[in-house]
Amino acid sequence: MTAPLAGDLSALSKLIEATLAGLAEGSTQRSGPVPALHPNALNRTVPTQLFPENGADPAETVRELSSWLAAGAADPAHPSCAGHLHCPPLAIAVAADVAASALNQSLDSWDQAPSATTLETHVLAELAALVGFEPNAAGVITSGGTESNLTGLLLARDSAIATHLGAKASSSGVALAHGRLRIICSEAAHFSVQRAAALLGLGENAVLTVPVDADHRMDLARVAELLAELNTQQLIPAAIVATAGTTDFGAIDPLAELADLAERYGSWLHVDAAYGGGALFSPLLAPTLAGIERAHSVSLDLHKVGWQPIAAGIFLARDAELLSALERTVAYLNPIDDEEAGYPSLLGRSIRTTRRADVFKIAVTLRALGRTGLASLVESCHGLVQYAATHISAHEQLELAAPASLASVVFRYRGNDELNGALRRHLLETGAAVIGRTAFNNQVWLKLTLLNPYATTDDIDGLIKAICTAGLELSRARA
Ligand SMILES: Cc1ncc(COP(=O)(O)O)c(C=O)c1O
Repeated sequence: MTAPLAGDLSALSKLIEATLAGLAEGSTQRSGPVPALHPNALNRTVPTQLFPENGADPAETVRELSSWLAAGAADPAHPSCAGHLHCPPLAIAVAADVAASALNQSLDSWDQAPSATTLETHVLAELAALVGFEPNAAGVITSGGTESNLTGLLLARDSAIATHLGAKASSSGVALAHGRLRIICSEAAHFSVQRAAALLGLGENAVLTVPVDADHRMDLARVAELLAELNTQQLIPAAIVATAGTTDFGAIDPLAELADLAERYGSWLHVDAAYGGGALFSPLLAPTLAGIERAHSVSLDLHKVGWQPIAAGIFLARDAELLSALERTVAYLNPIDDEEAGYPSLLGRSIRTTRRADVFKIAVTLRALGRTGLASLVESCHGLVQYAATHISAHEQLELAAPASLASVVFRYRGNDELNGALRRHLLETGAAVIGRTAFNNQVWLKLTLLNPYATTDDIDGLIKAICTAGLELSRARA
């Protein structure tokens, strides 16, 4: 048995063919967006001999396992796969990702990724311009919104400790701050904000959540009050985290007003646009994010509204200088004399060391589709979700929670929480649909997130019909 390296392009091409054959075969075994199997039943189908003493034929193995994986996969391209911010990747991006894997560049040092290092810098400059940042902005490609939010809050923490205590948190830690740092966000902000606070040694209790208004946006008056209270108590508002596109309702916090408050109280403004950042591609929708360009840092996420295979997170700071707390000089990666000789390293941009060239698929996508191409995908999804919201609100069995946002809509089947929870599981167990679930007003609500730009209004009708049929059957069975 030989195991060729990826540099053997003829072997690679045959193995890719075998992989694609496996995907095609496996997908036909599933009629809906997910396998109609309970997790326990799926568990029993895992191929045996996952790590045998002696290996097997590579092409056969990759074909067989790809087929198994596809048969049991949640297919984000299926029009009834509408549970999460989980997009179907573009074929062009997946093809480009093969190049990133085959070349296996690592962005922690120039000598492991010469072209990818320079490409990442250029692509980030394009995305920074899309946000509205000046040319001195900089950033890094991350594993997603969670890492981008952690990076933003790390910089905010270090900046607050430097400004207020004259210390370098990366050396002295947070003890000097005596528990005085606070992070302000809305109650609808992503949970990664609390997780970041815990990881950064501030503790989750350092995150003060502000209620949202009727439009699910951070209550500005309460933020202003809170900042004044912190000031009186000599506590430090290290960061305000505004969300541009909350996970459930897609609400956009009042960015410009929050930027004013951040400026007034010397706070770092981080905008989590992991979901809503996709609107920036569309001239129609981009104005909803006005004010984002005043943030110190921004999270974008092209594996949500950007049609990239995971991972494609983006972290941007409005000024490269703001990233200085991440700087590192490591003898084996980026010695000073190499840097002085003109060999740049992106090590000091990231909290990671080894980092794959996720930039490549992004670069290929941006170039192949252009801004108008991406805008049309965004607008198509937005149109579909508006259509879905109109139909939901007109349907007597369904109740709409709020107008549709960028690509999602929250609603429920008229009935109790138990029925709504069971309805979602029923669709999952029968393999008919993947729909989202969330909590709102202490009740269980359902959610559609529509990220297949090529789905049709007939597909949406079919999905809504499946939801209503399941709801009716389950409520009859319970009567
Ligand atoms: C608003 C927001 N921020 C951050 C995240 C986390 O992103 P990721 O899953 O890419 O880490 C999500 C995920 O849905 C999100 O909706």
